Amino acid sequence: MATAAPSPAIIGKSPNRIDGRKKVTGAADYAADRVLDQMLHGYGVMSAVASASSVKVDPTAALAAPGVVAVYHHGNFPKVYRSSNDWEAQTTVGEVRPPLEDDKVYYAGQFVALVVAESFEQARAASALVQVDYTEEKPIILWNGDLKTEQQDTAKRGDPDAAFAAADVLHQATYWTPSETHNPIETHGAVAQWITDPARGERLRIYSSTQGVIFERNALAEVLGIPKDRVDVLSPYLGSGFGGKLFLWPHTVLASVAARELRRPVKVSVTRADMFTTVGHRPVTKQSLKLAATKDGQLTAIEHDTVCHTSFTDTYLEDCGTTSKALYTAKNLRVTHSVARMNIGTPTAMRAPGSAPGLYALESAMDELAIKLNIDPVELRLKNIADIEQDTGKAWSSNHLRECLTAGAAKFGWSKRNPKPASMRDGDELIGWGVAACSWPADRMSCSARVQIKADGSIRAACATQDIGTGTYTVIAQVVHQLTGVPMAKIDVALGDTSLPPGPISGGSWVTATVMPAVAVATRAALERLKKAAADTGSPLEGAKELTVANGALLDKATGKQAAFADIMQARRLSTLDAEYSTALDDDTTKKYAFRSFGAHFSEVRYDPGIARLRVSRTVSVLDGGRIVNAKTARNQIAGAVIMGVGMALFEQTLYDPKTGRVVNANLADYVVATNADHPDMDIEFLDYPDLHLNEFGARGIGEIGLTGFAASVANAVYHATGKRVRELPISIEKLMA
Ligand code: MOS
Repeated sequence: MATAAPSPAIIGKSPNRIDGRKKVTGAADYAADRVLDQMLHGYGVMSAVASASSVKVDPTAALAAPGVVAVYHHGNFPKVYRSSNDWEAQTTVGEVRPPLEDDKVYYAGQFVALVVAESFEQARAASALVQVDYTEEKPIILWNGDLKTEQQDTAKRGDPDAAFAAADVLHQATYWTPSETHNPIETHGAVAQWITDPARGERLRIYSSTQGVIFERNALAEVLGIPKDRVDVLSPYLGSGFGGKLFLWPHTVLASVAARELRRPVKVSVTRADMFTTVGHRPVTKQSLKLAATKDGQLTAIEHDTVCHTSFTDTYLEDCGTTSKALYTAKNLRVTHSVARMNIGTPTAMRAPGSAPGLYALESAMDELAIKLNIDPVELRLKNIADIEQDTGKAWSSNHLRECLTAGAAKFGWSKRNPKPASMRDGDELIGWGVAACSWPADRMSCSARVQIKADGSIRAACATQDIGTGTYTVIAQVVHQLTGVPMAKIDVALGDTSLPPGPISGGSWVTATVMPAVAVATRAALERLKKAAADTGSPLEGAKELTVANGALLDKATGKQAAFADIMQARRLSTLDAEYSTALDDDTTKKYAFRSFGAHFSEVRYDPGIARLRVSRTVSVLDGGRIVNAKTARNQIAGAVIMGVGMALFEQTLYDPKTGRVVNANLADYVVATNADHPDMDIEFLDYPDLHLNEFGARGIGEIGLTGFAASVANAVYHATGKRVRELPISIEKLMA
C-alpha cells in the first residue's frame, strides 16, 4: 500500500541505468544482432582508388561463387532518388549522392558493388572475386599543391582591421587539427526487411544503428520514393556513435534496396576498416587565429578563419569559429569558414563538431596571448568573459564561466604554478600545467512524448528519440518517477522506434533538455486523466474534489483517503490512460535569451625527455551544464570526454596516403585512441546551477561540452612543461623531440 509521503526527489541523484541489466546480459538487441528468417548478407566491394572517371564491374566470378544471390553495381542497381538534404524537413543525409548512382569514384573506400549471399562469409569471400577496372584520375588529396577553397560563410562585428592596426599586443598563428574517425565499439549496421501487408501495401522495416530514427525514416522515404508512413526505423540500442550515426549513409540504402529486389531481409554491416571512409569523419582543419588586446589584457579583436576539407559528394563544413563569436567579449570580430573539396568521403559531425577543433585553436591562442601580455592565463580569460551574447545582443540565460575558472583553479592548485616553462619538475619528469575554457550551445528542440498509466499501476513513457548510450532511458524514467512516485522498476521507457511520437536526433547535446519537459507535460496530463477517473463512480476516491499525487497513489486531501494508481484503474475497469503532448521552447524565451554551457579544464602533463614519454597525469574539469539530472551518467559523460580528449590531444589522427588517398591506419591498432592506461586522475565537478529559462528542470545537455577545450588545456600544459608550442594535433612525441 502506498503511503501519502511526498514522492522522493530523484532528479540529481545517481540511479543506475534502467537498461544496464539488458546491456550486460546481452538482452539489448543492437541493429546488426538481428537475425531474421531467410536473411541475406551484403558485403561491399570498396573502391581501391580515390578518383576514377569510370569503373567497369564484372561480377561473373563472384556470381558463380557458393551462396551468392546477387551482385549490385552501377550497371544494375535500381534507380533511387537523392534526398532533399534539408535540416528543417529532417531529411538530412550523410552523403547526397546515393550509392552506385553512377560509374564514377569520388573517394577510396566508396561502394562500387555490393555482393549479397546466404552467409556473411560467402558474401565476403565472393567480394574478392568481383573484377573492378578503373579509369583512374589523379586524386586531389588533402593539402597538397594549390588548395582551391570555397568560402561558405562570414560573420563580422565592428571594424576588426582597424582594431588590429591599433592593437597594443597582437597574437597571430595557424593551428591544425587532423582528420579523426568516430570509432564507437558498435560499428554501423542495418537489417532491412520489406513487409507485405495485404490491406496497407508494402512497407520497409529497418533495424539500423542510427542516432536519429525520424531523420533516417524521412531521408530513406525520399531516397526510395515512398511515403514516410511506409517506413519503420528501429534503433532501440546503440553502442554509441559520436555523431557518425546522425545521418543516412550508403550501407543503409544498399540494404534497403537489395531487400526490396530480392524479397528477403538483407543485413549490411560496416567493417571497422570501412568506418574510416564511408560513414563520415571529422575533417582536417586549418585555423588562422588573430587576437588583439590592450596592454592590460582586454581583447579588442578576434579573427578566426577556418578551412576544412570536404568531399565531392556533399558539402560538410566544420564550423570552428562559431564559439569564438560568443565565448569572450571583443567589440571587433571576423569569423570565416571555407571548404576545400578532396577525393575523400564526406566528413560529418563528430562529438562537439566545430567547437572541439575550434577551441583547440582559440584556447591555444589565448594561452599564447597571455604569455605575450605576461598575464596569468586564468586571469586573461576572467578579464574577457562576455557579459552578454555579443553576437546577438541577447542576455545569457545562465553563464557561470567565471566560477568554472576560479573553482577549477582552486581545486587544481593553480596558484602554486611557476609560469616559467620547464621550471616545474618531479625527478626525471618535467611537469606542465595548462588551462582552457569549454563551451557548447545549450539547445532545445521540439518534441512529443506519450505517457500511459497502465491497469497494474505501472507507467510507460515513449518517444521516437534514442539512447545513444548516454542514459536517455534512465533520465526519462527519472522524470516520470519524480512526478508520480511510481518506483523506477515499474516505469517502462520505449525509444528508438519511428512509430512512437516524434523526438529529436541524439545529437547536439539537446536530448535531455528537449525530452524532459515533453515527458513531464505528458505525465501531468495522464495524471489529470487519472484524477478524473478517481473522482468518478465506483472509484475508492469517488467524489474527491482535490487530489494530490504521492508515491504511485492519489490522496484526497479533504478525507485523508488514498488509493494506489492500480486500485483506481482496476475499480474503474481501465486498461490504460494515455496522454501525448508536444512541447518546444517558446518564441519569447528564444528572443530574450542566449543558451550555452560553459566549463574549464585544467590539465597536468608529465614529460620525461630522456625517454620521450608524454602523458596527461591529472585533470580538473568544472562544468556549468545546468541542473545535473543523473550524477552518475553525467560524470560518465565528462569522464568519457576527458579520455577522448586525451586521445584528441596526443594520439588520434586518420592518415591518408597523399598519393592514393587511401586511409593507411584504418584499424584500431594503428588509429590510436586513448584507453584505460592513458586516462588521467580525473576530478570532475558540476556547478549545478539550473537553467530555468531552458526548461522547468533547468537541465541542459552535457554530451559534447567535455571534449571542447580539452586538447588546448593539454597543448598549453605541454608548452609549460617543455617550452615547445605545438600548433598541430596530435601532440606526438616526434613533435616534442624535433
Ligand atoms: Mo553529436 S556530433 O551531434 O552526435
